[in-house]
Amino acid sequence: MGTFAVTGSASGMGAASAALLRDAGHTVIGVDLHDADIVADLGTDEGRRTAVQEILAAADGVLDGVAAIAGVGPNMRDAAAVMSINYFGPVALLEGLHPALVRSGAGRAVVIGSNSATTVPLIDEDLAELALAGDEDAARERARAAQSAMPPEIIEMAPSIGAYATSKFALARWVRRTAVQADWARRGVLLNAIAPGAVLTPLMLGSTGAAAEMDPDEFPTPMPLGVFGHPEDIAFWVHQFLKPQARFTTGAVLFVDGGTDAAMRPDAQ
Ligand code: NAI
Repeated sequence: MGTFAVTGSASGMGAASAALLRDAGHTVIGVDLHDADIVADLGTDEGRRTAVQEILAAADGVLDGVAAIAGVGPNMRDAAAVMSINYFGPVALLEGLHPALVRSGAGRAVVIGSNSATTVPLIDEDLAELALAGDEDAARERARAAQSAMPPEIIEMAPSIGAYATSKFALARWVRRTAVQADWARRGVLLNAIAPGAVLTPLMLGSTGAAAEMDPDEFPTPMPLGVFGHPEDIAFWVHQFLKPQARFTTGAVLFVDGGTDAAMRPDAQ
């Protein structure tokens, strides 16, 4: 049985993933702002350092897998915080835990992106490149500046939608660039992303009010399957990516979104 770190373990997809791994007999080290084995704010340098140190201590320096799931939605007011939590959090955590994944001999890492990266027409490529260059201060500043230039009706609907979509776009790009580096690929550490669509978790329910009762056909983006996702639908794929048998896939971004991305971009591959 393996040892896995799961961020965002207190709620939604993270809680469902942690439960699935525990049910399969694995040891799970949960990280979250509350109700977790390790309580840490992954939106800050200090919280990320604490999380890495405490995970390494709890795992005795060897990890079979990491699921970086913690994140916030487009409803968060502070666009800078969205970049820090959704992009810099998972990247710092995975970089810090990389040696422990190498030590397992078949390390697996999976991050949660979003289909907003391909379906929301507000991607700020320059902001994404600042993030990819590791310049958190500059990225935070640009995210706030871009937010203040957004039309008021967008701010009212989803105050950080631009930073949110861009944080997930940059994260997917980081996964693809990093997964193929020799110190990941040739050391047995596979790194993939899942891009969920609308999933019924507190994050989505909080942002759209009565989303649970909402008709998927009335949702702003197309829902070809006619249903919203549940946290377990994402946890299923998290679990697959973390298995040692998942040994020929790295740098992939898997849409788990009920068909939204395919409906909006049928000819993109
Ligand atoms: P959720 O709100 O149920 O769970 C997110 C968890 O992350 C919470 O337990 C929260 O406390 C934790 N978290 C937030 N900020 C944190 C921080 N600074 N440090 C440590 N932990 C923190 O939401 P859900 O939906 O399960 O979200 C999981 C991931 O899925 C997020 O990255 C989110 O952006 C992404 N996502 C969600 C979608 C949805 O429709 N629910 C769609 C696409 C992506």
